Amino acid sequence: MKVLVVGSGGREHALAWKIAQSDKVKKIYCAPGNAGIGEIAERVNVNVLDVNSLALFAENRGIDLTVIGPEASLGAGVVDEFEKRGLTIFGPNKEAVQIEVSKVFSKSLMIDYGIPTGGFEVFSDPDKADAYIESIAGKIGNPIPVKADGEAAGKGAIIAKNRDEALQAVDLIMRKRAFGSAGERVVIEEYLDGPEATFMFFVDGETCVPMYPAQDYKRAYDGDLGLNTGGMGCYSPVPALGPELQDVVTETITKPTIKALKARGICFRGVLYCGLALTSDGPKVIEFNARFGDPETQVVLPLLESDFFEICFAAATGNLDSQAVSWYNKKALCVVMASDGYPGDYDKGKPIEGIEEAEKTGALVFHAGTETNDGRVVTSGGRVLGVTAVADSFKECIDLTYSGVGKIYFDGAHYRRDIGARLI
Ligand code: AMP
Ligand code: GLY
Repeated sequence: MKVLVVGSGGREHALAWKIAQSDKVKKIYCAPGNAGIGEIAERVNVNVLDVNSLALFAENRGIDLTVIGPEASLGAGVVDEFEKRGLTIFGPNKEAVQIEVSKVFSKSLMIDYGIPTGGFEVFSDPDKADAYIESIAGKIGNPIPVKADGEAAGKGAIIAKNRDEALQAVDLIMRKRAFGSAGERVVIEEYLDGPEATFMFFVDGETCVPMYPAQDYKRAYDGDLGLNTGGMGCYSPVPALGPELQDVVTETITKPTIKALKARGICFRGVLYCGLALTSDGPKVIEFNARFGDPETQVVLPLLESDFFEICFAAATGNLDSQAVSWYNKKALCVVMASDGYPGDYDKGKPIEGIEEAEKTGALVFHAGTETNDGRVVTSGGRVLGVTAVADSFKECIDLTYSGVGKIYFDGAHYRRDIGARLI
């Protein structure tokens, strides 16, 4: 079988790495990939938003399965284009991806079908949003989540600590249009208090198969300080989301959501990423994504025992119910190494040393923002590498991961030193 992976981050390196373990897979392509992916897949110079060229490539090369990483490709309609041409692809179509892209769509769906989440209000007039904030700010002691309703590269959510910050958030999103047209509407949400967890599911339109849950560290610095990032580290599974609570999520959140979409005429095939708050009233949805998480994928896939290619193929063709999915009884932990300045501005092109030495310690090194330049691996993005270790205990994972990280050097490398610390 020939597989095309779309994307260029640490998530896509993990996807390609796991697909490569299947006996059924003879060749992997990746568009556009990165330096690490280039070692296991043939890189294809096509932009992730260029859905026509991607489909043409898949047609011409006889690709048997395409697996999509980034939400931007899904939002651009890559799945719709592939399906129109009769090509097999794993990911949701443009209608289904609304569950990630539009906060109003996903919140309304959850409220209409009684899926546990927090309350929300939507405003297309900033003055009305301000008035609403004034009306609630005195009554609640909690933070106030203010979000742009549209694609904002994961940055359109501001968790305001108080009235003043909430008013500033409305101004930034709606009047200053800091996130462009995503700021035509804002969603002001009820704050959900409790530990967060990511719980991803393979979905074939009907059947939902859970992966191991994961926990992501979003802030840039130790102690959850600094700005929100795409994710600075992660571990799996999640002690606070044990098997019983996982069943509660599957039965009260995931299955009803897929059914609700179906009732609206939408078939969801792909990964449903449930971003949860484990509140004192039970698990509630903070957000849905319609794709694999990054860096969650870098800890979840190393724990998957079954053939990942077969699962994706079964999901893409509506046959998940016949697919056995098993997991290793182990733990995994990932530390992301980023460029100095990330998530703000950063330099590129810094040579990276020590990747092979890190791999010799038994760690997995997933490339994110890397390129090759004159035969050397150099930095090319904000998140540069993710170092993952798999072991019997989180303590061993932490030791192994950080000894791998310690072997790697690039100018300005920044990483959190507290990933997993809360577990031991
Ligand atoms: P989002 O862009 O919606 O994923 O929000 C980014 C992050 O902000 C989430 O991962 C949470 O950590 C936090 N967050 C967003 N909405 C809420 C909420 N309603 N209650 C508590 N935390 C939230
Ligand atoms: N790590 C968070 C995300 O993938 O959205």
